Parts: sequence; C-alpha cells; structure tokens
Amino acid sequence: MRRALELARQAWGRTHPNPMVGAVITEGGVVVAEGFHAQVGEPHAEVMAFRALGRRPAADAVLHVTLEPCCTHGRTPPCVDAILAAGIRTVVVGATDPNPTHAGKGLAMLRAKGVAVVEGVLREECEQLNLIFNHWITTGSPLLALKIATTLDGKLVLSPGEGRAVTGAEAHADVHRLRRLFPAVAVSADTALADNPRLTARNTGAESCGLRFVLDRHFKTAGRSGLNLFQDHYRERTIVVGLGSSAKKADLSWYEAEGIKVWSLVGDEESFLEVWAERCSQEKVTGVLIEAGPRLAASLLGARSVHYLLAYVAPRTGDSASPVWHEGVDLAGWAMRTSIMGQDALFQGFLG
Ligand SMILES: NC(=O)c1ccc[n+]([C@@H]2O[C@H](COP(=O)([O-])OP(=O)(O)OC[C@H]3O[C@@H](n4cnc5c(N)ncnc54)[C@H](OP(=O)(O)O)[C@@H]3O)[C@@H](O)[C@H]2O)c1
Repeated sequence: MRRALELARQAWGRTHPNPMVGAVITEGGVVVAEGFHAQVGEPHAEVMAFRALGRRPAADAVLHVTLEPCCTHGRTPPCVDAILAAGIRTVVVGATDPNPTHAGKGLAMLRAKGVAVVEGVLREECEQLNLIFNHWITTGSPLLALKIATTLDGKLVLSPGEGRAVTGAEAHADVHRLRRLFPAVAVSADTALADNPRLTARNTGAESCGLRFVLDRHFKTAGRSGLNLFQDHYRERTIVVGLGSSAKKADLSWYEAEGIKVWSLVGDEESFLEVWAERCSQEKVTGVLIEAGPRLAASLLGARSVHYLLAYVAPRTGDSASPVWHEGVDLAGWAMRTSIMGQDALFQGFLG
C-alpha cells in the first residue's frame, strides 16, 4: 500500500476533479505490476496495473489499491467488473470512496462474488491524499484551505528590517507543493499589491500554475498593470473577484482591455466569500488554497469560512500590527496534526 501511495502521488494535482489513486498487483508476495490514475478520462489505477501485467493474474494474485474500486460507469467502465473479469480473489483497499454513489458498494459487490476484501490499510494516509476530492464529492463545493505563515507570537508579518519570509526553506517548498496540488490559489488585493506574488509552483520540476484568484471586493487592483499576476506568462489564469455593486465602469473596462478575467459578484461585503465559493462550485473549481495576510486570515478564521487550515509557525517574533489571533478567533473544533519542517512547525487540519 505504501508503494501504491507513491504511485498515486505521481499524478500530484493533475487528476481534478478525480482522486489520485495508485494500485499494485502482487503474486506470492512479490510486486508484478503497478499503475496509477494519471488524469481525468485516462484509465483508473487498477486498469493501468492490469495493462502493465499484460496477462491473466496468477491464482494467488492480490490487488492493493489506495481507494475503493469504482462500481459505476463514469467516463470509464467500473473497475469492479475489471477485477472480477481478471479473476482476482483478494483485494486490499486503503480508503473507502466517499462518493455517495460508491461509498462501500464496490467492496460489497466484490464480497458478494466471493472476493476477499481487506479494508482500511493505511487508511489515514489514503484519505489525506484526496482531501480536495473527498470534500468536493460529498458537498459539491470547493475545499477552502487557509494557509498562513505565522511567527511564534502569532504575527503574519515580520518586524521592519527583518525581511519578508516568515518561514524557512522546507516550509516554502511545502507551500509550493500545495500550490501544485490545489486547482486554484487565492490572495487578497492588498497582498497582491504589497508582495506582487506569482502564486506559481516552482520548487521542483517545471513551473506550474493553477487558477489565481485576486479577492478584490472593491477592484482596487484596476490599473495596476505592473502586477505579476496581470502580466506574466500565466496571466490568462488570473481572475479578479469583486463586487458588481462597487465596480466602476472604468475599472471593469481596464481589466477587459488588458485581457484579465473578472468575476463581478452579486452580493455585499458580508456575503462576498460565500458568493465567490458558489461561483467556484458552478465553475467546477474543486479546491482553493487561500494565502491570506493578517486581516483576511483573521476574518476567515473568525467567521469559520474555511474548511481546512495550514498554519506554518516559525520560531521568530513579528510585527505587532499583524496579529492573526484576534478576539473571536480561536482554534476550538479544529482537528490539528503537527509536523516539523526544518526550524518550523506545520499545524494542519479540518474544522471538525
Ligand atoms: N505570513 C503570511 O502567511 C502572509 C500571507 C499573505 C500576506 N502576508 C503579508 O500581509 C501583508 C498584507 O496585510 P493585509 O492585512 O493588508 O493583507 P490581507 O489580510 O491579505 O488582506 C486584507 C484585505 O483582505 C480583504 N478582506 C478582509 N476580510 C475579507 C473578507 N471577509 N472577505 C473578503 N475580503 C476580505 C480586505 O480587502 P477589502 O476591504 O479591500 O475588500 C482587506 O483589506 C503583506 O505585508 C504580506 O506580506 C503574510
């Protein structure tokens, strides 16, 4: 199952709206074939493993797969049928498919045909792998994940003269890995103007770029043609999101003339994030990593408007003007896991 997880991760961030899945076939305890789901429309991991085997599996063959095999016709035929047709008698599964049309049905169908099914092997890792898919398929709305880099005293900006990067190299690499995972990344207009970020993933391999949202309720980025998000190679993936009610005609025509996409939402300051998330659902954006500064982060945490939190904490002190833990912002109800990244710690988890 560890190898199957490694295989699944080879398609890191490339399978949306599908999950990442890896599969391994063993015979006599020895790996004889491997496969993973590469992207939407491509065969599922189990089928890739059967193709790699290129013959009928031996009588003692075991299929190990990170996610419950599908049992319905989607873009491809059901994997349960392929498993039965191949004559596999034992299947080892990591996570149950949270998709309500599957959700254990595939396992029941295999058992009904006399196949031995072992469930829950490395379940937590297999579930964590698909946190975006799991949320999307059960709610139909995007997973909103808030990423913050804070000092030990809970500030998001360092003191003047201390530089800009709160956390170290390992944490930065991890953020780039997340940018590769999420189909979209978002920043506030204020952070876009202050930091001029690119929001691309550049840690390993070729640079990649998902959708890039600028959360700009009052369209204050209009006319700022020098921003990387408006002028780089990926500018057609930038979407400025604002309120139609506060849009000046001149501002909107500036974006249009520059070829920059705008979502002009119907709502007010209060409902802005909710309306934006609804639009994301309509556009099939399955998850957004929000890289918020202190005011947006405090607002999101205070209103519990995000589902998942990634807080990178550095052993430093910060600027007193940038606290994130205001009164009314607390961590009650967040199921956090901790990992160490160089000098920094990452606390991550769902709002339970
Ligand atoms: N350490 C980190 O993780 C991190 C991450 C990003 C940025 N930063 C730093 O943060 C600094 C900028 O700080 P900041 O406080 O100006 O940035 P910010 O918190 O990213 O953005 C503030 C803006 O977000 C908007 N906002 C707040 N609540 C909102 C809500 N509920 N819905 C929609 N929009 C909302 C508001 O814009 P409107 O009122 O105009 O609508 C507000 O002016 C920069 O120096 C940057 O380096 C740090």
